Amino acid sequence: MNPPSSANTGHDVGWTPIAEEAMRAARVLHPESYQLPKPDRRRVLTVANQKGGVGKTTSAVNLAAALAVHGLKTLVVDLDPQGNASTALNVEHRSGTPSVYEVLLGEVTLADAAAVSEQSPNLYCVPATIDLAGAEIELVSMANRETRLKEALTSDAIDQLGVDYVFIDCPPSLGLLTVNAMVAAQEVLIPIQCEYYALEGLGQLLSNIELVQQHLNRELAVSTILLTMYDGRTKLADQVTQEVRNHFGEVVLRTVIPRSVKVSEAPGYGQTILAYDPGSRGALSYLDAAREIAERGVKNGEKQ
Ligand SMILES: Nc1ncnc2c1ncn2[C@@H]1O[C@H](COP(=O)(O)OP(=O)(O)OP(=O)(O)O)[C@@H](O)[C@H]1O
Ligand SMILES: [Mg+2]
Repeated sequence: MNPPSSANTGHDVGWTPIAEEAMRAARVLHPESYQLPKPDRRRVLTVANQKGGVGKTTSAVNLAAALAVHGLKTLVVDLDPQGNASTALNVEHRSGTPSVYEVLLGEVTLADAAAVSEQSPNLYCVPATIDLAGAEIELVSMANRETRLKEALTSDAIDQLGVDYVFIDCPPSLGLLTVNAMVAAQEVLIPIQCEYYALEGLGQLLSNIELVQQHLNRELAVSTILLTMYDGRTKLADQVTQEVRNHFGEVVLRTVIPRSVKVSEAPGYGQTILAYDPGSRGALSYLDAAREIAERGVKNGEKQ
C-alpha cells in the first residue's frame, strides 16, 4: 500500500513504500532503538485553533505519546474544560481532583497537579476538571489574568518534572484560557482539518497570535501546522492540503494525519492511538509527525 505522498516524511527517500512501512512499524515496536533528539531547551507548544473539532486534543495527546515512547519526557496540560485530553490519557479528572484550575488560581503547583499517564512513565498530564468551565469568567477580575499559566510553568516547576516537551491543549475559543496558553508557550501548533472551510477563522487566530506577540510574549511563533483528518479519497483534501502549503510554506509538517476510525476510537478506551493500535496508519503518522517536530526543533536550535 502506498502511503499518501504528503504523508511521506522525506526522511526515507530511496526506500520502497513497503520498506518504509516496515521501518515505521519497527520504530513502534522497538522505540528504544529510535530515540529522538532531546531539544537543547525545553519546548512549550500551544495547540490552538478556535475552530472546534479540528484535532487539537487528538494531536496534543498523540504527539506527546509519540515523543514519550521515544524517551522524551512530555507533559500535556489540559486547558479545556471539556477535559478530553485527560480522558484520552485516562487521568483522573473528577471535580475536586487537583487540576489546571487550581494551578491557575495558584492553589497547587504544576508538579502537584501532574499525574503520570498509564501510557508511558515519560508522559504526564495536568488534568482539567469541570471547575475550569468557570475560569474564563473568574480570571477576568484576577491580577495577572493573562500570565497565570506562564507563572505556573516556571522553569523550576517544570524542572521538578524534568520534562523536555509541554503541549497545552486549548479549548475551541480565543478567550483568556487560550491567551494564557499563548503567553506560556514559545510555539503555536495549529491543527488544520483537511475539509471545506478549513481556513475560515485562521485569520482571526493569526491576528490574536500577533497581538500576544506584540503585547505579552515576544518569543511566540507559529512553528508548526499539522494537517489532520486527511481523506485521500476526496479531491477536496488535496486541494486544502495544497492551499495550506502554498500559504504557510515550511511551517506545515510534511506528515499528514489520515482520517481513521481507529484514531477516533482510542480515547473511548482511555488510550492514545499508539497504545490502542500501534501498527495503524494513525499511530505511524503521529510518530512521523512527532519525529519531524523533534528534528526541526534541533535544526531551529542550531540556527539560533
Ligand atoms: N485523524 C482522525 N481520524 C478520525 N477521527 C479523528 C481524527 N482526529 C480526530 N478525530 C475525531 O474528531 C473529533 C474531534 O477531534 P478532537 O477532539 O481532537 O478535536 P479538537 O479540536 O480538540 O476539538 P474541540 O475543539 O472540541 O476541543 C473527535 O471525535 C476525534 O476522535
Ligand atoms: Mg479538544
